[in-house]
Amino acid sequence: MNHFQLQDGVLHAEEIPLPRLAEEYGTPLFVYSTATLKRHWKVLDRSLAGLKHLVCYAIKANSNLAILRTFAELGSGFDIVSGGELYRVLQAGGKASKVVYSGVGKRDDELAFALEAGVKVLDVESAAELARVSIVARRLGKRAPIALRVNPAVDPKTHPYIATGLKESKFGVSVEDALRLYALAAKDEALEVKGVALHIGSQITEVAPFTEAIARTLGLVKELAKQGIRIGHFDVGGGLGIQYHDEEPPHPDAYGAAVKKALARFDGEVLLEPGRVLVGNAGVLVTRVLYTKRNGRRNFVVVDAAMTDLVRPAFYGAHHEIEPVVPVEDGEEVVADVVGPVCESSDFLGKKRRLPALEPGDLLCVRSAGAYGFAMSSNYNTRARAAEVLVDGDEAFLARRRETLADLVRGESATPRARRFTKAAVRVKSRASRGRRNA
Ligand code: LLP
Repeated sequence: MNHFQLQDGVLHAEEIPLPRLAEEYGTPLFVYSTATLKRHWKVLDRSLAGLKHLVCYAIKANSNLAILRTFAELGSGFDIVSGGELYRVLQAGGKASKVVYSGVGKRDDELAFALEAGVKVLDVESAAELARVSIVARRLGKRAPIALRVNPAVDPKTHPYIATGLKESKFGVSVEDALRLYALAAKDEALEVKGVALHIGSQITEVAPFTEAIARTLGLVKELAKQGIRIGHFDVGGGLGIQYHDEEPPHPDAYGAAVKKALARFDGEVLLEPGRVLVGNAGVLVTRVLYTKRNGRRNFVVVDAAMTDLVRPAFYGAHHEIEPVVPVEDGEEVVADVVGPVCESSDFLGKKRRLPALEPGDLLCVRSAGAYGFAMSSNYNTRARAAEVLVDGDEAFLARRRETLADLVRGESATPRARRFTKAAVRVKSRASRGRRNA
């Protein structure tokens, strides 16, 4: 259920016709619906009613401050993967005490920022990271709250680029390694064992991989209890899929019920790290047709949005529904590729789409663009990134202004002011000292 529907023959975002927004803010334009965002969060939250839990929105999916604020006001926690994301959460009024910090490669300065801010937990993903966290915490005179991210070796049956819980993936540690590392952590005064974390992948459209991963990890929790190590929270990660096209992902209620059942015997707090399911269908990308053309036997609709705005089709071969903002009934139809202006053949938003005969100036709506849309956008071809608008009923506000050309060259310098670097300035570490750091 989302709030981008036809009213009087025109697609609206809640109560506002999309053409009005395109006129006011220009295109390409990301439009988000507050009602959809809130509804998705509440449905997921309610699905775990009766269980002590915290929904921690995975902000990588869409980190616009207005979206973070919307969730923060509902009492949301946040899942972050960088110091930059922590900065955003704090800027938006989110509480550090509700922040879960995941990711395989946290730098010292990021660890220090997180510890100073007082995050809820650091999800540690390797032995080397555990050692590093301990050093940074000690240096700051703090005790670092930690969980280990366990890799339960479950196939989430999704696109290989977004499967993260496979045995050979770079994420997490194996159950066997986790046992050993928890024992180390429990003895380290600079560390405080808080919980265990999982995340097996993204856009998962079945419940079974989730419950299987939870079951495997519960075995570890029991084993740890025998050793006197108490696991206070169980983070099941994110990954619940959405409908882009013909997928039939479980309803959040069914997912929540399955998580509840799988964790019925777990005595502690349950954390969730949903990204896509909260924001994916709460956003669309509005784009304007620039030209139509025909090459050989193929029709092309060239639009003003590109892979720089929505990279998912180019990157994962992902499908996003594309429809005219003002549909024409009973008109002539064409089958066309919807492509952007970027100089790459992979720059397409959709292939072989059945569309009405379009004219320059017509508007198209690319659906399900709320997750990993703007967040993965780039400035390739020196294209300014799109504006983002948040709609609430019949009101809209500019959540991010369109980049200007001046924004695009900020920080660059065309006049050389060279510095000379001497060879002596480079310090090469010996093998032995490198060994010590990783010990
Ligand atoms: N927690 C962790 C540790 C994650 O790595 C992710 C996503 C999530 C939670 C949220 O997963 P979600 O609920 O959104 O599935 N760019 C790709 C998706 C990459 C997901 C990366 N990790 C895409 O556009 O499909």
